[in-house]
This record gives sequence, C-alpha cells and structure tokens, in this order.
Amino acid sequence: MSKQNPQLDAQGNLKHFLTTEGLSRDLLTDILDQAEGFLGVAQQAVKKVPLCRGKVIANLFFETSTRTRTTFELAAKRLSADVLNLNISTSATAKGETLLDTLRNLEAMHVDMFVVRHATSGAAHFIAAHADPHVSVINAGDGRHAHPTQAMLDMFTIRRHKQDFSRLRVAIVGDIMHSRVARSQILALKTLGVPEVRVIAPSTLMPNGIEEAFGVRAYHDLREGVRDVDVIIMLRIQHERMNSSLLPSEHEYFRLFGLTEERLSTAQPDAIVMHPGPINRGVEMDSQVADGPRSVILEQVSNGIAVRMAVMSMCIGTQNLKSQPQGDVDG
Ligand code: CP
Repeated sequence: MSKQNPQLDAQGNLKHFLTTEGLSRDLLTDILDQAEGFLGVAQQAVKKVPLCRGKVIANLFFETSTRTRTTFELAAKRLSADVLNLNISTSATAKGETLLDTLRNLEAMHVDMFVVRHATSGAAHFIAAHADPHVSVINAGDGRHAHPTQAMLDMFTIRRHKQDFSRLRVAIVGDIMHSRVARSQILALKTLGVPEVRVIAPSTLMPNGIEEAFGVRAYHDLREGVRDVDVIIMLRIQHERMNSSLLPSEHEYFRLFGLTEERLSTAQPDAIVMHPGPINRGVEMDSQVADGPRSVILEQVSNGIAVRMAVMSMCIGTQNLKSQPQGDVDG
C-alpha cells in the first residue's frame, strides 16, 4: 500500500474507499467519470455487466440503513458479483463474536470486498488495516467520521446539474456537528474546486473552528446563508449521535432552520435542493420543497447505484470500461 494514503495501492490506484480526505481531484473526477459510464446499465434489458463476475462482496451493516445498503447490493449485483448480506441482528455478533473474528470467518469464505457501516468512527479503517492484502474495504458510513460514497453520489448529482464545480456556491444546512455526510461532502467539494462552501446551523450544532479547519463560511441564519447559492444540501438531525438535547424542540428547529419555498426563494432561481435521506419532513424541510421541482433527492438515490458501481469496480481493479461489453452479459 502507498505510504502517502492507505486507500491507495503501490501504483496509486484505489484499493479501499474509506474517506474523501487526501484523495486527489483527478481520482475523485475519475470516480465521477466512471459512474457516468455505469448510468446506462440501468437502461439495459438485463441490468448487468461482468466486471466483478466471480468476486464475492460482503455487506456488513452494523447500523440501520435503507438507501446505502440496498444501492450497494444492487450495484454489486449489476457488476455480477456474488453478494453476502450479513444480518447483524441474527449473526454471531449478537452472541459476542468480535469484529475481527467475524472478519476472519468471512475471509475464510474467500470474500474479496467488505462494505462496512458501523456506529464507531474508524471501524472501516480498522477493518482495512486488518483484512487480507487482497481484500478491499469500502466505508458505508462510520460514526461521525465519513460517508465517502454518499459524498461522491452527491458530487455526481451536482455535476450533472451544474457541470462546472469552479463557479458554485454550495450551502450545507443542519446538524453539521454530528454529520459524517457533511464532513465527506466538504472535503470533496473543496478538492473538486468549489470556491464557496457555506455551512448553516444553530450554534449548538456547529463545530468550533470549522471555518479555519475546512475553509468554509459559517452562518447561523438560514435566510442569509442560502442567499444566491446554486446548491442547498439539507442534513438530517442526528438524534442518535447527540449525548444531550442540543435543540429546544423540532418545531423550533423548523421555525428557524427548516427549508420552505419562501426561504428557498433567496437562492439562485435554478438552485437544486438535496438531502442524503432519510428526511424528517416538517423538521428539516417542508414537503412542498422535498417533493418540489428543485428537489433532486430521489435522483441522488438512483445515482448512488452508478457511483457505487464505479467505486467497487475501481477498488476491485476491474474498472476498464473500454473493454466493457454493452449488451447482456451474465449467463
Ligand atoms: N444516506 C444514507 O446513508 O441513508 P441510509 O441511512 O438509509 O443508508
């Protein structure tokens, strides 16, 4: 593995995808370009390509998920991989088996890739550090730390609507403090050349020193923060990661930080509205906005399949799209 970045192999190719931190603009752009190539697979009569045929991919979700788990599974199946979905609640983890023992047992079944979601920050890095050398690890969200494929599907969605990152103003609104998504998005947006990233939150949900640490502008007023922006990314209130109540009430939060049609009107007329999901309607945003013409929330979900196909095939080292047959391939 490269000394520079533990996610890269000795040739500088993606081996694991654990965080958007420290990856080059070229590599992030390569993920987006590869994902463009995979969008068409959904339109084929048989939605499969053979890039990961013969590979075994294990989904290890130690935390709840709807979108990430299912789109990873679909992406792996579209790449023709064999997929293991470990049900943690009925697995030996519930009997006290350690993470490493679970890992070793799955490796004994010749797994080639682990897709890991875990409530503990650093869990995916830990697995990558202890896995067999041929095994790749993708972080599907670890604690408050990172959710890199979510960030990349968000970058992909932004690029499809706005083309040029170098002219954008992007606002990220909500629970910045506890959000692994926000952290991964900010790092990716900065690497891809977005000149102005704003974060908007009540002071109890805004990390100290975020402006200096991440090169963003912090706002505590939604109306002011979304003025003239091209992209608004709303975040979920992460009650499960709060040690104490940091909000007076959900009603009060919506009154001050909920996105409504009226507040959206101060953004650019063609601004898009995003949310990684799950949405708390009437808390983070009004249903009129969530289901309105500026919302690209369900597009984000569809794009997640293509982006995850790109990341998985790149990590497994089979992503040569030039040799990719366009027809039905899985016999
Ligand atoms: N965006 C996201 O991670 O959603 P899930 O928790 O449903 O996977």
